Amino acid sequence: MTFPGSGDETIYLDHAATTPVDAEVLAVMLPYFSERYGNPSSVYRHGQEARAALDRARASAARVLGCRPGEILFTSGATEADNLALRGVAWRRRLDGAVGDPPPHVVTTRIEHHAVLHAAEALEEQGFAVSYVPCDGQGVVAVDAVAAEIRPETCLISVMYANNEVGSIQPIADIGALALERGIPLHTDAVQAAGMLPLRVDDLGVDLLALSGHKFYGPKGVGLLYVRQGTPIAYQQAGGGQEGGRRGGTENVPLIVGLAAALEKADWLRDAYATHCAGLRDRLLHGIREAIPEADLNGPFHPAQRLPNNLNVAIPGVQGETVLLSLDMEGVAASAGSACTTGSSEPSHVLRAMGLPEERCRASLRFSVGRDNTAEEIDEAVEVLVETVGRVRELAGSA
Ligand SMILES: Cc1ncc(COP(=O)(O)O)c(C=O)c1O
Repeated sequence: MTFPGSGDETIYLDHAATTPVDAEVLAVMLPYFSERYGNPSSVYRHGQEARAALDRARASAARVLGCRPGEILFTSGATEADNLALRGVAWRRRLDGAVGDPPPHVVTTRIEHHAVLHAAEALEEQGFAVSYVPCDGQGVVAVDAVAAEIRPETCLISVMYANNEVGSIQPIADIGALALERGIPLHTDAVQAAGMLPLRVDDLGVDLLALSGHKFYGPKGVGLLYVRQGTPIAYQQAGGGQEGGRRGGTENVPLIVGLAAALEKADWLRDAYATHCAGLRDRLLHGIREAIPEADLNGPFHPAQRLPNNLNVAIPGVQGETVLLSLDMEGVAASAGSACTTGSSEPSHVLRAMGLPEERCRASLRFSVGRDNTAEEIDEAVEVLVETVGRVRELAGSA
């Protein structure tokens, strides 16, 4: 998609990093900034209007997840939701334990987003134990590998639903069955799955699930954490008793209203969106392969194991970062690895966990297509990429 009305003709192929706010979603949010601006905790009409909007948003998100409204907690994004899940469950176990108990243990994977990985590392610094399950060469974690890490003191399993870099879909329902059998809560970071894959928590067998508004055409700075009733968790943010006493702080009504509207629309459009994206993604791969036959796919080959909008390719003889900058000058926006680590010279931890050599990691690019992309844009992007790669290789003396 280009940026409408901005005069910017960029072909935007980085929807895994963020998406534009849907026009209908924006229209639903706007009145809550300056007309219906009441504080949901106030007893007069303005406040009660805001409270009703919050209640409606919670009920609508609960319909999509197939849970009770009271099991949804709105947060400032998925980073907060993931942190709360890991720290909250681990600390609850420690606070409920006896002196001399072994430190509570968390099982997670090597391919998680840093919102989970860095929270897990922070727990290790606080004396908790963490195991990081490896993945296979296509970025998929095996149920048996998760099972192998479980100990008597394991208090949480955290495995993402779909990976943000290579789009690999994890066997969450099978891990859910394992977690249920062992009586251990399961958390999933479902950020990249929203709008692409089913999110009903009972079908997935998850006890905690994190989402972020800006990945499915909603606003930035808002997310949610689903917490199954009865999950032992120590809430982290003390304050004025909002969110049923679980997260203090005046609720961000406009953003929450936007998140709920975007989630409902994303869920309703899911099949059509996934089909549209998969078609464009395959066209992009085909176009790249035709012109650059040595380009190689990173991540799952089988479409059922990969997010429909994700393409991650290694192009031998170039540095991904250099190609990205040139693409940007030519009006194509893509990504090398995850947007959150772009700018750092470290190769992607996900590609490394898949066992790819460093040179291949550095030569990798991620394209993530979206709702408004067209076949013409994809063809143009392929042309620009092929030209750019030729130029970069020539400069590097490897053409
Ligand atoms: C898989 C995954 N988890 C968590 C996050 C963090 O989400 P937020 O931007 O809402 O903090 C992202 C964002 O890139 C993501 O892709």
